[in-house]
Amino acid sequence: MKLIIKKDYEEMCAEAAKTIKEQLDHKKDTTLGLATGSTPEGVYKELIKYYKNGEIDFSQVKTFNLDEYIGLSKENINSFNYFMNDKLFDHINIDKKNIHIPNCDGKNIEEFCRNYDKMIEDSGGIDLQIVGVGQNGHIAFNEPANQLSFGTTIVELAENTIEINSRFFDSIEDVPKKAITMGMGTIMQAEKIIWIANGKGKSKVVEKFLSEKTITTEFPVSILKLHKDLTIIVDEQACSSLGR
Ligand code: GLP
Repeated sequence: MKLIIKKDYEEMCAEAAKTIKEQLDHKKDTTLGLATGSTPEGVYKELIKYYKNGEIDFSQVKTFNLDEYIGLSKENINSFNYFMNDKLFDHINIDKKNIHIPNCDGKNIEEFCRNYDKMIEDSGGIDLQIVGVGQNGHIAFNEPANQLSFGTTIVELAENTIEINSRFFDSIEDVPKKAITMGMGTIMQAEKIIWIANGKGKSKVVEKFLSEKTITTEFPVSILKLHKDLTIIVDEQACSSLGR
C-alpha cells in the first residue's frame, strides 16, 4: 500500500491524473474503473487537459463506472451517466461504445448486475480503478453493513449518504433510495486501485483507515487494505486528524 500526501486538492488531482496517464502510456487499450462525486472532478479536468495537449489518446480506452442511482434517467443532471459525460466523456476522444455505466432503465436490473461483472471480465478486467470514499467509509455505494455483496448488486443507500448526496438535488426527497453498485469483490479484482480523498470531511475516514488494524464490512474502505496494489492519494486536510 502506497500513501501519497499532496499539499492540496489540485495537487492531489494532478498526481492521480499523472498515474492514469502513465497507465495509458503503458497500455493504450487500458480498462479504467471510474468514480463519480466531487472528489474525482478535478482529476477528470486534468485528464481533459492532457488530452487537449495531445498527451493522452483515449480512442482504445474502455471504462466501467462504479455505480449509478436507480430511478434517474440518463438525461437527469444528477445521474452519474450525465455526470460522466459532462465532466469527462464529452471532452475526450473516447469511443462511446467503450463506456459502461450501470444502466437502470432496463426491466431486469438483477440480470443487468450479473451481466455487468461479465462485461468487465470479458473486457479483460479493470487495469486501474479510481475510487473515492463516503464519510461513512462506503466505497462506490457499498454501505457499512454486517455483510457486503461480492459482485455488482442493487443496494439501499444509507441515511447519511442520502443526506450528504442531497447537496446535488433540489430536496432530500429527490435523492434516490436505491442504486446499482460494483460489489467490493468486483472492485478488488482490479489490477491497481487508486483511492483519492481530500478535505477535512474525509480526515476521520482516512485516519481510521490508517490507524486501525482491522478489516470489516462495517467500514467498507478497510477492505482495500487487502489489495495487492493500492495507492492512496490524499491532500493534507484529509490527513489533518493524523496530527501531521
Ligand atoms: C458517492 C459515490 C461514491 C463517492 C462518494 C463520495 O456516494 N457513490 O463513489 O466516492 O459519494 O463522494 P464525494 O467525492 O463527493 O465526497
